[in-house]
Amino acid sequence: MELCSITGLRGKVSVPGDKSVSHRCVMFGSIAKGDTEVHNFLKGADCLATIRCFRALGIDIEETDSAILIHGKGLRGLTAPSEVLDVGNSGTTIRLISGILSGQSFESNLSGDESLNSRPMKRIIDPLSQMGANISSVLRNGCAPLYITPHSLHGIHYESPVASAQVKSCLLLAGLYAEGETSVSEPTLSRNHTELMLKEFGADIHSTFALDSSRATASIIPGRELCGQKITVPGDISSAAYFIAAGLIVPDSEILIENVGINPTRAGILKVCEDMGGNITLLNERTEGGEKIADILVRTSQLHGITIEGDIIPTLIDEIPIIAVMAATAEGTTLIKDAAELKVKETDRIETITDNLRAMGCDITPTEDGMIIIGGNKLKGAHIHTLLDHRIAMAFSIAALVAEGITKILDSKCVDVSYPEFYDTFEELLAE
Ligand code: S3P
Repeated sequence: MELCSITGLRGKVSVPGDKSVSHRCVMFGSIAKGDTEVHNFLKGADCLATIRCFRALGIDIEETDSAILIHGKGLRGLTAPSEVLDVGNSGTTIRLISGILSGQSFESNLSGDESLNSRPMKRIIDPLSQMGANISSVLRNGCAPLYITPHSLHGIHYESPVASAQVKSCLLLAGLYAEGETSVSEPTLSRNHTELMLKEFGADIHSTFALDSSRATASIIPGRELCGQKITVPGDISSAAYFIAAGLIVPDSEILIENVGINPTRAGILKVCEDMGGNITLLNERTEGGEKIADILVRTSQLHGITIEGDIIPTLIDEIPIIAVMAATAEGTTLIKDAAELKVKETDRIETITDNLRAMGCDITPTEDGMIIIGGNKLKGAHIHTLLDHRIAMAFSIAALVAEGITKILDSKCVDVSYPEFYDTFEELLAE
């Protein structure tokens, strides 16, 4: 994909359904009794991998143009897969499904693509093993492929060293099959879609913030059957983030992004944009299925550098590539700290952001847990090495819109992972 600079992005866009929520609809719908009907489901490669896995586990999932229909078979209704479950590029699929599969009476094998098979799985293998699960890394390197054999589970209290919704969700799902209560505490609250949605499905699940510490805890008591639901997935704020940034940094722009999920555990990007001086207005705020939603209006703004650190990091971890692009165009220095998790995403994003922003002429220094960006230099067109990371492809497509000359996004098709229509939506906006 080749892109060049533009001005005057004006119009309305809607972004596809939230990736995290879409995955969970399929998973919880499959182990619920009765039908789950999902509207605005994200048909990106990651969520399609989740559908593929649950079909291989005996669940009938219908896809129509307007909805996904999951014919759930209850907590004990999954059947043994005949082959390795292929999770593709999806960390959410493998980590969450491992919690469910650890509680089954059949064995399973899980594997993904090269990037997925190099990401850390010890973070789920260790606590699942403490619950009694028989789960191992086939190559004994702490990564997928994973092999799970049947074993009874018991509830534990787990103090997670990282704020990770994938770890938390994995253990809560295993907790549905364990004897006694399972609870997970994390250093700061990570996205809580599992807690909100499992509650809607009827699970006995609770979340608390301990008053004497900043840790957040979620706990689940097994025994209740889950019941199929009708769900409309909110627009993905992680996808909206690219248009928010475009509206702020492309001169003479005004973009309205409709129906975006603004769950506070995901909405750190909004605070960062405001703190950087961005002109952002939330319109039509409402709550649907336990999730907050709004339309977001953005207008071109002069941004300035800020420090981003601490508890806000888990609420914007997937948006750091696009935040880095905004920081490169902002006046002054932006410091991103406490974000070492970036190293274990689809790529090492401290490295991929640094390499590509440097190629565009930005003054950026990587650190152990983030980066220092000195903004204000005019960006120059460059060849962007996405290394097949969808968020790098989309973030640098926005950078291209304010860069001098042509920017070439290599392997831009990787946007299919979370936003297959990304470039089409862009063209529509340009046409407006
Ligand atoms: C996700 C959790 C986050 C996020 C990922 C989706 C989820 O990962 O980065 O894109 O759906 O639970 P971690 O749990 O590793 O922080």
